[in-house]
Amino acid sequence: MDIMKKMIMRGLAVWLVWIGFCVAVQASEPIRPIPRKLPYNKSKAELGYWLFIDPSLSSDGSVACVSCHSFGHGGADPRPVSVGVHGKKGYVNAPTVYNSYFNFRQFWNGRAKDLKDQANGPLHNPIEMAMKPKMIEAYFQKSEKYRRLFKKVYGRAPRYTDALDAIAEFEKALYTPNCRFDLYLRGEGELSIKEKRGYDLFKTVGCITCHNGINIGGNSYQKMGLIVPYPWSESSPDRFDITKNPMDKNVFKVPTLRNIALTAPYFHDGSAKTLKEALQKMAYHNLGFELDQDEIEALEAFLETLTGEKPAILKEMGM
Ligand code: HEC
Ligand code: HEC
Repeated sequence: MDIMKKMIMRGLAVWLVWIGFCVAVQASEPIRPIPRKLPYNKSKAELGYWLFIDPSLSSDGSVACVSCHSFGHGGADPRPVSVGVHGKKGYVNAPTVYNSYFNFRQFWNGRAKDLKDQANGPLHNPIEMAMKPKMIEAYFQKSEKYRRLFKKVYGRAPRYTDALDAIAEFEKALYTPNCRFDLYLRGEGELSIKEKRGYDLFKTVGCITCHNGINIGGNSYQKMGLIVPYPWSESSPDRFDITKNPMDKNVFKVPTLRNIALTAPYFHDGSAKTLKEALQKMAYHNLGFELDQDEIEALEAFLETLTGEKPAILKEMGM
């Protein structure tokens, strides 16, 4: 009897240690998986979807949000810099809208505090959509479909501020759960030896100091060219643009690395055409050394495990 008891106690102790170990490992992982399900208001998000893809929200009827944030390109723009109304060229690469809800601020220099605040930007920007709230409201008023949808969702005639709210809700729904790395973090999937080596390198060489948290970025401002200076341009949307502090030249919100394999070209200036090139430049400018071929391949293999599922709302909308 005593022996049985002892064995059970011992078994229990081993289990407790094992569970404690697992919890500790989970807690010490500097990257967190995104939730499998994120609650959002479905009817708002659906209205937001129609607004997001509607070129009539631009002054010449040629540009919608989706023109620069392509659903088939990881929510980003395949062009190095975006092109707005009347073919006007911008000066920065469009970041992904997928998982942007998890960013602590919006835009490369964080000038918008949240998605609602952000959506106000491109609609007015003279080189993006170039519209005024009054023009947008007048357009909604003329549309039977929008009058019906706004009434259903907000219980009143279309308003510009409600449109921003709906767009933000749609963007909240643009999260990409269950990438292979998240499954690995949850103990539900394996990584290959190469991918694991890539993740180890990501931590040991120091990428993790800037790219961490739920979005593997998107939670701090850091300098591009921390160790080896990176060329600076006057038109750069960096922190300097806001603070006018020379120390803030080339300081940007760290971009998310989720779905990074889908969103070439890279960097605020779209200067890195491939993921390999982006990794090499990152290691050189921000860590001060050159990666060898083997390391680049392992890191790339790891980054490829960050591609998540296509947002469920897009499937629901038939995209
Ligand atoms: C003409 C191209 C263009 C159009 C149209 C456009 N965007 Fe963008 N978007 C960009 C560029 C370029 C940036 C980065 C600008 C910056 O940081 O200064 C950006 C940034 C963003 C961001 C911030 C992401 C982050 O990680 O900081 C979000 C969110 C976003 N856009 C959503 C939208 C929405 C919503 C619309 C429609 C109302 C829209 N965009 C229309 C090009 C465009
Ligand atoms: C000191 C902070 C810091 C470190 C360390 C760092 N990064 Fe970055 N990373 C950034 C910033 C800031 C940007 C945006 C730079 C820009 O656009 O000019 C960036 C951009 C990127 C991009 C391009 C993202 C996009 O959407 O364009 C990739 C890929 C990347 N980093 C991967 C890595 C890898 C891999 C490492 C390690 C070898 C690493 N980073 C180390 C801060 C850092």
